[in-house]
Order: sequence, then structure tokens, then C-alpha cells
Amino acid sequence: MILVVGATGLLGAKITRRLLQQSKPVRILTRAGSPAAELSAAGAQAVTGDLKDRPSLDAAVAGVDAVVTTANSILRGGADTVESVDRDGNRNLIEAAAGAGVRHFVFTSLLGADAGSPVPFMRAKGESEALLRTSGMAWTVLAPNLFMDVWIPMVVGAPAMAGDPVTVVGGGNRQHSLVAAEDVAAYAVAAIERREAEGQTLIIGGPEAVSYRDIAATFERQLGRPVPVQTVAAGEPVPGLPAAMSPLLAFQDTYDSPIDMTELAAVYGVAPTSVEDFVRGFLAAQSPAG
Ligand SMILES: NC(=O)c1ccc[n+]([C@@H]2O[C@H](COP(=O)([O-])OP(=O)(O)OC[C@H]3O[C@@H](n4cnc5c(N)ncnc54)[C@H](OP(=O)(O)O)[C@@H]3O)[C@@H](O)[C@H]2O)c1
Repeated sequence: MILVVGATGLLGAKITRRLLQQSKPVRILTRAGSPAAELSAAGAQAVTGDLKDRPSLDAAVAGVDAVVTTANSILRGGADTVESVDRDGNRNLIEAAAGAGVRHFVFTSLLGADAGSPVPFMRAKGESEALLRTSGMAWTVLAPNLFMDVWIPMVVGAPAMAGDPVTVVGGGNRQHSLVAAEDVAAYAVAAIERREAEGQTLIIGGPEAVSYRDIAATFERQLGRPVPVQTVAAGEPVPGLPAAMSPLLAFQDTYDSPIDMTELAAVYGVAPTSVEDFVRGFLAAQSPAG
């Protein structure tokens, strides 16, 4: 039995669907009101629980061979905070799994996570990684770069479709190896099965490093009309985006993150999704037929 925690989120749902397609026995941790009906109907065994509630996790991990978690607090709020979920909640889950004799634990972290980071989310992820590595379980850490599915629609897709200029913070020329969440799901599912993934941190990017200006140019080509780009300085709000996004975009404008995926993609049999293909899929989904 494989337990997926975070199955009602973007990445966790993709992992769960892939496992069910392979006829694997899958249990998912769900909360009241989380959108689990489709996954249950597809064959996942739903159990109620919360990372903040240790007894619920002890019940969820009973009889489980492998845990994969993608859960995080970032888009939630209320009682779900970096401290309660990403730090303490992950600790609850790791300790419950180790206590129940789970063999392999796959933890979704992110590129740049560090237990010594001044950024609380990065620090919580880094602390969870460190705890997992000493848990006694076989472990795999997934360290993906920025998800195309989150950043491309938000920063470029939405304004491009609305006919508004794309806003970049700073220069918008930094090159990042954005990755499709579907590709991360493919690595996660492969990692659950493969012994060579145990004791490994898999740094996961897409097939190429691109800037937001490059992505705007891709939309321009595919839409066949101009997609203008405007800039705001770091610290200024980005029109149309929640205030919390502006500092994140400013941070992304301070470094490049190219990742050579040639070897990992070959080893895990993943065909990396290009930005060109991702944008094509995005635009097809926006069309009336999509
Ligand atoms: N977005 C990026 O660019 C990016 C880049 C690198 C790595 N990552 C990492 O990738 C992972 C997956 O991201 P995502 O976009 O798929 O996340 P997401 O869509 O925001 O999903 C979050 C999931 O966490 C669950 N969750 C939150 N609080 C919980 C709690 N207290 N107890 C149990 N479950 C809880 C949610 O369940 P409910 O539905 O019940 O709320 C949901 O299933 C995250 O760990 C993230 O840090 C993201």
C-alpha cells in the first residue's frame, strides 16, 4: 500500500492518478472539504487526517509500504502555516511512518531548501529533509525547480490571454529550468519503485532554462500577436497578482537556475516537457474546445 499525502493538490493528484493507472494500491490522506471525490472514484482509499493531528497520521500509515508527500501550507492559510504544516506536520508524518515500519518515504522538497535558510519555508523543508535522512527509513528527496503549471499561467498566461502586458520584476532575464508538474509526478512514481532512488536527492528541472521574457516570446509566437512586457522594480506590486507573489518574483530575478536533466531523465525514463509544449497545452485548454 502506498500512502499519498497532498493528493488533493496539484502534484499529489498527478502522482495518485499515475499510481492508480498502474493498478497500485493507493491510500490518500484527505481533510473535510478537500477535493478527493474524483480520486476515490478512481480507486484510491481515502482516509481522513491532517498533518497537524499525529494520531490521524498513525492510523493513516498503518500497513503502508511507502509514503509520498507533496503537502505544504503555502496556498492554504488559517491554521495551516509553515510552522504547523511544513515544519511540525512533516515531522509528525516522518515520525509516524518510521514508527509504523514504513519502508520508503519520498518527500517533496524544493530546489534551494536548506535547514540554515533565513526564509522560513526553505528552512522548514530543509529541516524535514534532515529529519528524514536520519529516520531509519529508506528515503528519497525530490527537489524540483519552479513548476511551469504555477508560474507560467500566473505571470505570463493570464495577462497574455487578457491582452494585458506581462509584468516582470526587475529585468525578467534570469534563466530558470522550470519543470512541468506532470514530469515531477513521473519522477515521484519512478522513485517509489526504484532502489537506485533510495538515499538520493533528485534535483528536477525541465529540459531548458528560460526567462519570463523568453516565455512571453513563446506566447507571442503561438498566439500570433504581440505580448508586450513591462517591468516593475523589486518591492513594487505586480498588477493582477497577490501581494505575496511580488517578493517571490523579485527573488527569482536574483539568480539563474539551469539544470542539466539529460542523465536523470534517461535513468528514470522521463520525457521532459518543453516550455513550447507546455504553452501549447495551456492555450489548447483555454480554447472553447479545450
Ligand atoms: N509550486 C512550485 O513552483 C513548486 C516548486 C518546487 C517544489 N514545490 C513543492 O511541490 C509540492 C507540491 O506542490 P503543489 O503545488 O502540488 O501543492 P498544492 O497544490 O498547494 O497542494 C497542497 C496539498 O497539501 C495538503 N495540505 C496542506 N495542509 C495540510 C495539512 N495540514 N494536512 C494534510 N494535508 C495538507 C493540501 O490538502 P487540502 O486539499 O486538504 O488542503 C493539498 O493536498 C509542495 O511541497 C511544494 O513545496 C512546488
